[in-house]
Amino acid sequence: MMPMEIAPKIYDVGVTDWTVRDFHGYKTERGASYNSYLIMDEKICLIDTVKACYADELLEKISRVVDPAKIDYVIVNHVEPDHAGALPQVLKAAPNAKFVITMQGKNEALRHYGDGFDFMVVKEGDSIELGSRSLTFVPVPMLHWPDNMVTYCPQDGILFSNDAFGQHYASSKRFDDEVDETVLFYEAKKYFANILWPYARLIGGALKKVGGLDIKMIAPAHGVIWRSKIAQIVERYAAWGSGVNDGSLVIAYETMWGGTETIARAMVEGAAAAGVKVQLLRMDRTPCSTVAAELFEASGLLVGSPTLNSGMMPCIGAMLIYLKGLQPKGKKAATFGTCGWAGGAQKDMEALLTAAGCDLQPGFNCKWRACGDELEAARQFAYEFAKNL
Ligand code: FEO
Repeated sequence: MMPMEIAPKIYDVGVTDWTVRDFHGYKTERGASYNSYLIMDEKICLIDTVKACYADELLEKISRVVDPAKIDYVIVNHVEPDHAGALPQVLKAAPNAKFVITMQGKNEALRHYGDGFDFMVVKEGDSIELGSRSLTFVPVPMLHWPDNMVTYCPQDGILFSNDAFGQHYASSKRFDDEVDETVLFYEAKKYFANILWPYARLIGGALKKVGGLDIKMIAPAHGVIWRSKIAQIVERYAAWGSGVNDGSLVIAYETMWGGTETIARAMVEGAAAAGVKVQLLRMDRTPCSTVAAELFEASGLLVGSPTLNSGMMPCIGAMLIYLKGLQPKGKKAATFGTCGWAGGAQKDMEALLTAAGCDLQPGFNCKWRACGDELEAARQFAYEFAKNL
C-alpha cells in the first residue's frame, strides 16, 4: 500500500507518535506527529525527516514509493531532533542527496549529526528546480530555532511550514477539515503558546514574508495539514503574534492543608461575580504546558501557594519558571496564599511573575486559614482584580 498523496506525486511519509506524552516538558496528551513529505518529480525530494527512533519507519514508507538511494534533495527546514534526528540514517540510505539547509542550520547540524552531509546552503529567495516543480526557501529565524526556514512550492501552492502552524495532535486523518475543529484550534493554540510564545513578536514579519504567496495548502511538520481553514489559522497566528487578552482569568494554585484552596475557590466566585470567565487549575495535577495554553489568550493570572519551608510549593515554582521562559508579557498577575509564621511564598512568586514580564498587582494573604471576614475579602479581592482585567 502506497503512503497517502497529499497532492499528486507528493506523499505523506512521516510518522504518527500516538503514545508520546512528553515533548521536552510540553505534555502531549493527544500524541504528536513528525511529518515528512516525499516529492516525486524528475528530481526526488524529501522534505524534513522524523525523530531518530522512527527512521526505519520513514525509510520503509519512502521505499514503498521509490528506492531511497534515488533521493536527490533532502530539505532540512529545521535541525531540531524531532525533524532531523533521522538525518544520519537518511544519509546512509540516500548517499547522493544534497541536504538543503540555512547557514545557521548547517552550523547546528554539524554539532547534532556530525559531518558527511553534502550540504547546500540556501538563503532567502533561493530556489531549486525539481522538474515540473520548483521549491523556494524562506528563512524564518527563531520560529522556532535560529535555523528555521519554510519551503514553498508555487506549482502546487503548498507551504511546507515545519514548526509554524503545527499542532501536537496524533490523528489518522491528515487534513484540517477531517478532524474536530475545536480540538484542532485548541491544539494549534497550545502549540503556539508552548513553542512560539517567546518569539511571538517575530510572527508578523514571518507572515509578511509569506503573505504574497498563493497558498492552497499549509503542510506543517506536526499535526494535520491545513487546506480548508488556511485563512482562519493565518488570522489566528496574526492575532497571537500581537498578543490576545480576552478578558478571562486563570487561577493556578497548590495547597497544603486546604487553606490556600479555600481561598482559590472563593476567588473563583468573586471573579465570576464580576462577569469574568475563570479557569481554576491545581498544580499538583496540571501540566505547566496546560497552564500556558489556558493563560495564552487570558488577561489575568492569580497564583496561589502556602508557604512551605520559607518558600513556595515546588510545583508552583516549576510552573512559574516554565512561564518565565515563555514570557507572558502584559498579563495582569497577583499572588495569594497562606502562611503559618514567617511567610516567603509570596515574595518568591512575585519575583518570578515579575521576571516573566507580568504586570504585577498587590496580592492577598492571610495566616493559616481564611477566618471570619477573610473569605469574603478574598471574594472581593478577586472581584476587583477581575473587574480591572
Ligand atoms: Fe518541531 Fe522546533 O521542532
